Amino acid sequence: MSKADNLNAQLAIPAIVAPMFLVSGVELVTACSQNGLLGTFPTLNARTADALDAWLGEIGERLDGKPYGANLIVHKSNPRLQEDLALVVKHKVPLVITSLGAVPDLIDAVHSYGGMVLHDVIGIRHAQKAIEAGADGLIAVAAGAGGHAGTFSPFALTSEIREFFAGPMALSGCISHGRHVLAARAMGADFGYIGSHFIAAEESMAPAEQKQMMIESTAKDIVYTDKVTGVAANFMRASLEASSLPDGAHGEMALSDEAKAWKTIWSAGHGVGATHAVRPAAAICRELIEQYEKALEELTS
Ligand SMILES: Cc1cc2nc3c(=O)[nH]c(=O)nc-3n(C[C@H](O)[C@H](O)[C@H](O)COP(=O)(O)O)c2cc1C
Repeated sequence: MSKADNLNAQLAIPAIVAPMFLVSGVELVTACSQNGLLGTFPTLNARTADALDAWLGEIGERLDGKPYGANLIVHKSNPRLQEDLALVVKHKVPLVITSLGAVPDLIDAVHSYGGMVLHDVIGIRHAQKAIEAGADGLIAVAAGAGGHAGTFSPFALTSEIREFFAGPMALSGCISHGRHVLAARAMGADFGYIGSHFIAAEESMAPAEQKQMMIESTAKDIVYTDKVTGVAANFMRASLEASSLPDGAHGEMALSDEAKAWKTIWSAGHGVGATHAVRPAAAICRELIEQYEKALEELTS
């Protein structure tokens, strides 16, 4: 069985709950992975490497063999990368999601204990480079996604990736209903990759005001801009309006400055209209599973 099939066999539906800066921590990850999806978090959400060590210990203990994942920002501006990678190896994190850089040494380290590496990409050149570097698979980040979204239609992105790569692929961008996960499968992806839909989960670390803004926003309220950090991302308009933006902060920003910006200017994808209440993650997972099963039955009956 391939690593992706092995992961999939342990899930109720083929869905990964995406890592979100300042949002996903121990509670959200464990709630998702205990309820049939695969929870993940960015290692930098733990404030120090010692805290990350404790988080990974706690998650491993609570999940007792159920799969989960951690996201590493592979960039020279991340001073914690080597320390965090050592902890990922120590705790044998089943799924490692790499952003920005796909580095053979890091991938080898994850492979040393049987872990799987998915690299997130918004275009084909980086997808090819990640596969050449030895990544097991890709996360296709299409237009409308939360965070650093791509600009390509998911149809184009998945089709172009499938022309050269048959291995594990997750698709992201506004996935907020069980039928979207099924649609991702129909489009040739192995997993749906869901971020924003979990921001208003009770277990999310987002402040109450951010959760409320998720409830009040719909797709028209999402603005794609590079004015916040220099790299284009989707943000909720009301949070942009409430903060004083630096005038066109183009160019690379230090990770610490980027962290400050994301604290008050809140990212979300076009799927935000599906958030209607603050709910336990278990309820969101259950609903996604029911919706997926219903859609599958309707399509195949
Ligand atoms: C608030 C927020 C923070 C995010 N932080 C990260 C991150 O730290 N690392 C990362 O790889 N992706 C990050 N993302 C992107 C998600 O992992 C995922 O690609 C995206 O949320 C999927 O699109 P969706 O929000 O439309 O479901 C973030 C997204 C959001 C909304």
